[in-house]
Amino acid sequence: MRILGLKEEMRRACGGAARPLGLVPTMGALHDGHLSLVGRCRDDCATVAVSIFVNPAQFGEGEDFAEYPRDLDGDLELLRRCGVDLVFVPGAAEVYPPGFDTWVDVGPVGERLEGAARPGHFRGVATVVAKLFGVVRPDRAYFGQKDGQQTVVVSKLARDLDLGVEVVVAPTVREGDGLAMSSRNARLNPEQRRAAPVLYRALAAGRGEWERGERDAGAICGVVRRVLDSEPLLGGIDYVSLAAPDTLEELVVAAPGAMLSAAAQLGVVRLIDNVMLE
Ligand code: PAF
Repeated sequence: MRILGLKEEMRRACGGAARPLGLVPTMGALHDGHLSLVGRCRDDCATVAVSIFVNPAQFGEGEDFAEYPRDLDGDLELLRRCGVDLVFVPGAAEVYPPGFDTWVDVGPVGERLEGAARPGHFRGVATVVAKLFGVVRPDRAYFGQKDGQQTVVVSKLARDLDLGVEVVVAPTVREGDGLAMSSRNARLNPEQRRAAPVLYRALAAGRGEWERGERDAGAICGVVRRVLDSEPLLGGIDYVSLAAPDTLEELVVAAPGAMLSAAAQLGVVRLIDNVMLE
């Protein structure tokens, strides 16, 4: 496994690598969700590249950039065991050198839901992903459904800018009690960790309503809210949304393929999760 910190050496390594080449972009603090993306990439591609970069541009003021979990040695050990070929670990000045000024704005799809709560977040995500695609030039890139809006944003980015990258979305990996795996879960205290699966329970209850024939989006979201309201440790519900899968516009009438998602604060952690209506 080669570990590279400079864009130029990563570009050279990728240029000479066997195709297809798959990229798994991450911010490190790897868990089984990331490793499932790496495994999927390993199955599909002749070369597996992983990037580890905690991207300051996608954190707003007062967000948890400084506290975001970091464990580079542990991450590299996991990636070595998974048979990864190339790991790109750039520093912030390598990604955003002095004079950097060009940003990628994906429009309204990046302004809803997470984008409304975290202004500028998806501009930061789209920009760094475009830059990673530019350095690595992957044939495929792998993202988890857990960050549902991010998968929509990145797919749109690849399509709108004709980047020639196939965006592959892999299912959310969950703990035994339903909590979606996330690097930020490490910041929950034991009591909060016990409460955290309420988010998935609430979304599953909403999806249950759909499965029983409910088609009114307000009624489905209402069920989700009621379950969330039953958990006293939740600091606040940011949103409950039932949205079209490609535009993320709110639906009045539920339809197959819609994304039911929610975000809520639990201690210092902002939990997000989603389920798709089949
Ligand atoms: O999902 C993440 O970890 C990040 O948003 C990503 C895609 C690596 C971009 O920084």
